[in-house]
Amino acid sequence: MLIAGNWKMFKGAHEARRFAAQVRHLPERMPGIEIVVCPPYTSLVATLEGLGEQSEIRVYAQNVHGELEGAYTGEVSPPMLLELGVKGAVVGHSERRQHFGETDEMVRRRAEGALEAGLAVIACVGETEAEREQGRTNEVLERQVSVLPRHDRLVIAYEPVWAIGTGRNATPEIAQEAHAFVKSLHPTRVLYGGSVKPENARVLLAQPDVDGALVGGASLDAQSFEEICAAGVEAAAAA
Ligand code: PGA
Repeated sequence: MLIAGNWKMFKGAHEARRFAAQVRHLPERMPGIEIVVCPPYTSLVATLEGLGEQSEIRVYAQNVHGELEGAYTGEVSPPMLLELGVKGAVVGHSERRQHFGETDEMVRRRAEGALEAGLAVIACVGETEAEREQGRTNEVLERQVSVLPRHDRLVIAYEPVWAIGTGRNATPEIAQEAHAFVKSLHPTRVLYGGSVKPENARVLLAQPDVDGALVGGASLDAQSFEEICAAGVEAAAAA
């Protein structure tokens, strides 16, 4: 069971350091789960410092380039993250695909480069509302998942785009069905993402093929993040 908080473009260095110091001991109360936070690039160091060396919370970036170095203005490479103590990165988030034109091929290159360099990867997949309405969910998932490398440090996050930041989470049945399908294509752990909140985390995480959550908005608040982690502990204990 893996609970990851995606802070998106929230929490500058000052706030990140304070938040990290607040949650650093969380894993000691949360047996059986892994906890990850994904700050913006400029808050990575402050987060690591706020957590301190003893904390078991791992820090991932929200994206990473696939090359080790080069003329890629505005990008950050896997070794640059590793040098800081960052352990992984999200790739292919739907906001990257929607607003920054990232394609399946780019997601594949980012995932491969990150894994080769030694990072863990959370690779995001998921259909838009229109694609679901047109009955194309499985086709979209198949296309997005097919480019992802098989690697023991890669986990997939199923994030239906219509559920992200909308307060409209997938029903547990929809999540379970999509997760089972993703796993039939790519045998790995699959996290659910899209409006996960303390109120719905328990029932989503209780689904047999839901192996954790990628939490956006509700991960920004220490109390609600802790409640979602606690739901993960319960689900892990019941599994
Ligand atoms: P949300 O975001 O929990 O705010 O819907 C999830 C995500 O984008 O990873």
